[in-house]
Amino acid sequence: SDAPVTITITGAGGQIGYALLFRIASGAMLGADVPVRLRLLEIPQGLRAAEGAALELQDAAFATLAGVDVTDDAATAFDGANLALLVGARPRGPGMERGDLLAANGGIFGPQGRAINDHAADDVRVVVVGNPANTNALIARASAPDVPAERFTALTRLDHSRALGQLAATLAVPVGDLRDLTIWGNHSATQFPDVSHATAAGRPVPELLAERLGGVDAAQRHLEDEFIPRVARRGAEIIEVRGSSSVASAASATIDHVHDWMLGTGDRGWTSAAVVSDGSYGVPEGLVSSFPVTSEGGGDWRIVPGLELDAFARGRLGASVAELVDERDAVRALGLI
Ligand code: NAI
Repeated sequence: SDAPVTITITGAGGQIGYALLFRIASGAMLGADVPVRLRLLEIPQGLRAAEGAALELQDAAFATLAGVDVTDDAATAFDGANLALLVGARPRGPGMERGDLLAANGGIFGPQGRAINDHAADDVRVVVVGNPANTNALIARASAPDVPAERFTALTRLDHSRALGQLAATLAVPVGDLRDLTIWGNHSATQFPDVSHATAAGRPVPELLAERLGGVDAAQRHLEDEFIPRVARRGAEIIEVRGSSSVASAASATIDHVHDWMLGTGDRGWTSAAVVSDGSYGVPEGLVSSFPVTSEGGGDWRIVPGLELDAFARGRLGASVAELVDERDAVRALGLI
């Protein structure tokens, strides 16, 4: 059979790591016929947790699992990596300013970007999950000049799936009937979940919302006052209800992102991913921003071209992009890119 795919997971001893490892090893990400070799990167304090997860992976006896290594050395972890899932990050502590947060994460994603540049396989693909995900991806990309820019992505698939879940509930349709929803911009409170091109079983979602909610104005009010803020603040809602942050859903979205990137979006319409902007839709080139994307497999996202954005959508996208520009300028001022 084929040589195993080498997958490096950072922060593998953390919560999302724990949910992610077993699904990758089971074949949910790349297919049950593709052997995978896992490299778990942790900081020294996280090594025991990662080693424990490695023991449990052994105990699960996955036929697709070709091996597991645990290390706190980035060069070892990324050596020959075909996929890098950058989950470990520095969370915002009490009283921490945005500048401190960006600097702390620059100290993680800069060196990891360099290690990817110097040690990963030629075909490496990277997805950043650790927050602030878009800007962490920007930093990693800037630190890996020999790796093509389009290999660096950040996760907005969880936002995308959250939006699908909300819409399915509001319209009382199966989630599988929904297509072509978009998350634009930053994985943050400014993100813009956009239903204007979405369809449910072939019918335009804006029309269905108007029908169900009593007119076009009511539908727009629902989008602005309920749908968009609820999707954007869903992480906080989960913490409030569950008493702990989104973990299984974040791992699931990471699996879906890589699955669709490598194996294709097929006939399911587009999805959302934060990719390095080529200037599409007025998003400055080089920013890592969420777009509607498709893939034919093989690890190439294509930004869906030519969508019409109305004034409302342009305003929302503009606000999120302004935040990304601010973050970029802040990490530039810190010398991180
Ligand atoms: P966690 O705190 O349970 O795990 C993080 C792990 O990363 C810890 O084990 C820590 O030791 C490790 N770590 C820290 N610095 C590291 C480094 N330099 N190298 C390797 N490992 C390192 O956190 P959890 O719940 O697993 O979340 C991980 C990240 O994912 C957080 O930044 C969180 O905000 C983010 N997140 C992103 C989502 C998205 O949609 N993009 C959704 C949910 C969470």
